[in-house]
Amino acid sequence: MNNNIDVHFRSENSMWETPQDLFDFLNSIFEFELDVAACEQDKKCDTWLGPGSPINEDSLQEEWTGRVWLNPPYGRGIGKWVQKAYESSIRNGATIVCLLPARTDTKWFEYVWKASFLCFIKGRLKFGGAETSAPFLSCIAVFGNNLPHDLEISMLAAKGTIVRPMWLYNPLDEIRWDWLESRKEEREARDYLEDTDDE
Ligand SMILES: C[S@@+](CC[C@H](N)C(=O)[O-])C[C@H]1O[C@@H](n2cnc3c(N)ncnc32)[C@H](O)[C@@H]1O
Repeated sequence: MNNNIDVHFRSENSMWETPQDLFDFLNSIFEFELDVAACEQDKKCDTWLGPGSPINEDSLQEEWTGRVWLNPPYGRGIGKWVQKAYESSIRNGATIVCLLPARTDTKWFEYVWKASFLCFIKGRLKFGGAETSAPFLSCIAVFGNNLPHDLEISMLAAKGTIVRPMWLYNPLDEIRWDWLESRKEEREARDYLEDTDDE
């Protein structure tokens, strides 16, 4: 297939399969139990959610628990996936490792900054089956507190620059959750003002 058409097709369908060597590297650190965005052809774990899954075809309807791998569809709905990753880490104590486009200028990235740490990947990834590199940078976001030892995490530096958002350095807890909820109205009001400013 022509590369331009290939990139266009893949953008439209927003299915960017994780490079197997990157997944294997992360899996050796996190030992994933569940792939929450998959199909029979691209699943990375034996237990998976998505079209054709015997458990649930719609991951967003299912609770995420344990050590979870997430490479979501990169469409307009990506924010829902990242929000669920963040919330599942608090509600269920899940560890969720996400492969995401490093689009720090988007609204949904506000959730990504709530990760325990991030790794901004050096260079552009060649996604599964692609002949050329992606037209965007990627990052790995890790949500949760039940993390491997710091030494193991530091191995990620081989892939890129590790960033630990400072305000989440301490463990997430109920108090922070309540605080976030109490700020919701304030944030929605601010978002509304920002949106109307842009018009
Ligand atoms: C970017 S691909 C990732 C595939 C694979 N897990 C990986 O890491 O390479 C996104 C996957 O999400 C699946 N998907 C789309 N909507 C979904 C949903 N509502 N629930 C679960 N999976 C979904 C797609 O079928 C596709 O396999």
